[in-house]
Amino acid sequence: GLGTLNIPVYVYVIYSNSQQNISDAQINSQITVLNNDFNDADFSDVRHEFQNLGADIDINFNLQVIDREYNSRTDWGLNDAVKAAYPAVNGYLTMWVAPITPGYLGYAQFPGGKASTDGVVMSPQYFGSSEYDTQGNFYLDAPFDLGRTTTHEVGHWMNLRHIWGDGRCRQDDFVSDTPSSDGPNYRCDLLEVSCKSTDMVENYMDYSDDGCMGLFTNGQKFRMRAVFASGGPRAALVG
Ligand code: ARG
Ligand code: ZN
Ligand code: CA
Repeated sequence: GLGTLNIPVYVYVIYSNSQQNISDAQINSQITVLNNDFNDADFSDVRHEFQNLGADIDINFNLQVIDREYNSRTDWGLNDAVKAAYPAVNGYLTMWVAPITPGYLGYAQFPGGKASTDGVVMSPQYFGSSEYDTQGNFYLDAPFDLGRTTTHEVGHWMNLRHIWGDGRCRQDDFVSDTPSSDGPNYRCDLLEVSCKSTDMVENYMDYSDDGCMGLFTNGQKFRMRAVFASGGPRAALVG
């Protein structure tokens, strides 16, 4: 296999007020969550029936640049306006931390799209983890305050679909070890059964609350790492 993969990360913080200009500590807490979630070996936080499906993705995120930019715009929508103003930086996974349409946490570009818009976008109050907020001054909004929005968006950026396949039972997420499901789950709906199987609500690619999430599967690992293999759409990024 490819061994451990290292991904250089460029973070834009696009802020219209001081609250949105989140601290270095908050940004670093998000990178810590990514490194934890993509190098996980302890699945005791997910239900027993799913523990043996949990995978160590073996991908590291190396934060290299924090680029802070003031902009008076208070809502960047969902249509890449922020990327037109601040283009993706070649050779990095670009993360835009910017206020987007209220009620939306983040969005991502799948592999194969335009280089200038490639990366993930998160609103500042969902970027970082209160678990590492030792001073009590991070700008975060529970129950999405543990950094799992970025884990989810990076999953999309690595070619993962939502776990329910964005359709009914027969719509696949193209991953064989994720149970079929008829739609997203919210909160932490551990009792949800759909399509004749228990939904894997702990999966990062569901819509559960951050504290409920705890795994990518081996099948998802295979799909994500293929993106970086020789000939894959992001092979150049990992050198
Ligand atoms: N709704 C967003 C998306 O589909 C992200 C959902 C993230 N969920 C979370 N618990 N943080 O890309
Ligand atoms: Zn999603
Ligand atoms: Ca599946």
